[in-house]
Amino acid sequence: MKTSLTGIKPTNLPHLGNYLGAIQPALSLVDEYRTLYFIADYHALTTVRDAEALRGHIRDVAATWLACGLDPERTLLFRQSDVPEVFELTWVLSCLLATGQLERGHAYKDALSRGESPSAGLFNYPALMAADILLYDTDIVPIGKDQKQHLELTRDVAMRLNHIYGDDTLVVPEALISQAPLVRGTDGQKMSKSKGNGIPLFEPPKKLRKSIMSIKTTSEGLEDPKAAEGSTVYDLYALVAPERALQMKQKLASGGYGWGHAKEDLFQAIEAEIGPKRDAYLAMRADEEQLDAILHAGADKARQIARATIQRVRSAVGID
Ligand code: ADP
Ligand code: TRP
Repeated sequence: MKTSLTGIKPTNLPHLGNYLGAIQPALSLVDEYRTLYFIADYHALTTVRDAEALRGHIRDVAATWLACGLDPERTLLFRQSDVPEVFELTWVLSCLLATGQLERGHAYKDALSRGESPSAGLFNYPALMAADILLYDTDIVPIGKDQKQHLELTRDVAMRLNHIYGDDTLVVPEALISQAPLVRGTDGQKMSKSKGNGIPLFEPPKKLRKSIMSIKTTSEGLEDPKAAEGSTVYDLYALVAPERALQMKQKLASGGYGWGHAKEDLFQAIEAEIGPKRDAYLAMRADEEQLDAILHAGADKARQIARATIQRVRSAVGID
């Protein structure tokens, strides 16, 4: 069975875009692949400077995956930091990566263009990510388009290592770029944690409602016919309740159905999808001991794979 692996940075509470764009697609692979989904806490350290917040977000993300249906008996869920072998591999890979390649990294270049002075951690981010992937003999990596460059670098360095030290040392992975449509936020732009336009996944229904009511719309009167195309409310509805999308489109077109009504219908549809998961989330998030036990059990199993890879790499490069 081939292996699917992906990492999620615990930088904030997951939003609806993360659920539709990353969590659902990754969970749909469990029947076909051996799945390893981990919480990239050391990657989050490139931006998060609040220890208590990081501690909390690690558990928020773990509880989110479990509430969305991840079965820890079938998928290894673990924290990146519980497998320290990742740093050994990061070093070996760093010795094969050209600085020029890291200088072309999108995240690093973006930080420079914003006039920031990026940390060495941000510069080396792709090396740690390559190690995350190569450590577990990963075949496919489900990711968003924004991560494509990181995967190319990962493949590149794996092939270089194999070329120098022997073809059987590392498995060369493939990206599985998400076909999920981009989910737009309350301002109509790509929903993103950093933009404050997110529709929360597991906040109380009142907050969810408020967030949906704040979605920007055009300003026709109640009786006016309205176009579904281009509207964020309709687009979100079509993602959450595809079987009823046509119905909303027709109601909008015929008039007498305001954006307020459409938002109410959207709220009901989202609530129907995530309400039961929210209850599971809250129960799991409250039981930190159980959550940590699941993460540790996942790490124990992941570590066995990691140790074998590190042994192979060490002996290939001459450090054994
Ligand atoms: P954010 O942009 O909010 O910081 P991340 O970059 O941490 O989110 O993304 C985590 C995962 O969720 C990625 O796989 C990404 O492709 C997916 N994702 C994030 N935002 C969206 C969105 N608006 N629509 C679809 N998928 C998204
Ligand atoms: N860089 C990814 C992101 O920002 C998170 C990540 C870290 C990751 N390590 C990974 C994703 C390994 C896939 C595989 O979303």
